[in-house]
Amino acid sequence: MRGTQRIDKILSNLGYGTRKDIKKVVKDGAVKVDGAVIKDSGMHVDPKTSKIEVYDEVLTYKEFVYVMMNKPAGVVSATYDNKLKTVVDILPDELRIFDLFPVGRLDIDTEGLLIMTNDGQMAHELLSPKKHVSKKYYALVEGKVTLEDQQVFQKGVVLDDGYKTLPANLHILRSDEHSEIELVIYEGKFHQVKRMFESVGKKVKYLRRIEMGLLKLDESLNTGECRELTEEEIGILKNSVGPGCRNHMELN
Ligand code: URA
Repeated sequence: MRGTQRIDKILSNLGYGTRKDIKKVVKDGAVKVDGAVIKDSGMHVDPKTSKIEVYDEVLTYKEFVYVMMNKPAGVVSATYDNKLKTVVDILPDELRIFDLFPVGRLDIDTEGLLIMTNDGQMAHELLSPKKHVSKKYYALVEGKVTLEDQQVFQKGVVLDDGYKTLPANLHILRSDEHSEIELVIYEGKFHQVKRMFESVGKKVKYLRRIEMGLLKLDESLNTGECRELTEEEIGILKNSVGPGCRNHMELN
């Protein structure tokens, strides 16, 4: 969370009503900062270091916030863009106050699971090339995806720049003029899934990330929606990178 912020903004983001409501609550003498009743609802406070009380109830401050977004197509996985809408722009107000950033990138036309957090250490670990955190995608592919493609992917496929990918698990759901597949990869090269299919002469028409590490996209989230992770899901995410993690590379 940013350093200091207006107390009425902090409280309204935490569900204590509109700024007008909060002005009244402050006027009633119901808000204390570090033990002293405050008079000004525009007062700047750092919720990280100050004790804030409303009607003698102490606010609980969260240092880190973890959000799951079902990213829609058409927004960029960045905190700022001078032309395009970003995933930060579409966060609801109550989450926008935390300085969240996306953990890794999905292409502008890719949908699905995007973790957003302000926990730099956690993001760093999830993205570390050494950790091989798995990413599972669902894709619609133009062309017939074959068992041969599956074998090529399992051995590692050479991309257009000569890089050979780590072994990846391709699961064919439907193989026809248009195919449906699920693919698990253990790294995150630029446009990796699309380029892997290009290497076998096929084109990805639609791409959605459905898992990151051991965490699954909540399918009840519509595209563009997000919610905070539950404590259990935060544990699952941490377990995807931590010591003794179960996120080993599985080859079928
Ligand atoms: N691979 C891609 O090609 N695009 C993404 O957005 C993610 C993985």
